Amino acid sequence: MSGTFDWAGLQAAAEEVMRSAYAPYSGFSVGAAAVVDDGRLVVGCNVENAAYGVGLCAECGVVSQLHATGGGRLTHFVCVNGQGEVIMPCGRCRQLLFEHGGEDLRLMTVTGVRPMHEVLPDAFGPDALDAP
Ligand code: THU
Repeated sequence: MSGTFDWAGLQAAAEEVMRSAYAPYSGFSVGAAAVVDDGRLVVGCNVENAAYGVGLCAECGVVSQLHATGGGRLTHFVCVNGQGEVIMPCGRCRQLLFEHGGEDLRLMTVTGVRPMHEVLPDAFGPDALDAP
């Protein structure tokens, strides 16, 4: 069904939650939205802090809502800037998303829909912790 997935709808959800961003320091609002394997929608916005380094990316909110509402696996993801344009998740958040969606998570990126194994190749993940 990936060919018929409603990416525009998911991007609209990211744009809506972006309007709740708390980004007084960077002035760079971000909204993120994802679909869970049971069909749920989970969203998040960035939340900055006067101690700059402890600011939370929008993806942190997505993952928190994922677990707060029952868990599951992320299947589709998009994040947008303050103009509603698609942006790439930062490196740390690619790792965060990999944990909860794996290599087959589909992301809307600045170069189109791509699987996580292209966005974070050769990822370090849960399997890497298995005993040899
Ligand atoms: N930001 C996100 O929320 N997600 C990303 O993937 C990229 C960066 C936020 C962090 C900070 O609040 C602002 O964007 C500027 O870096």
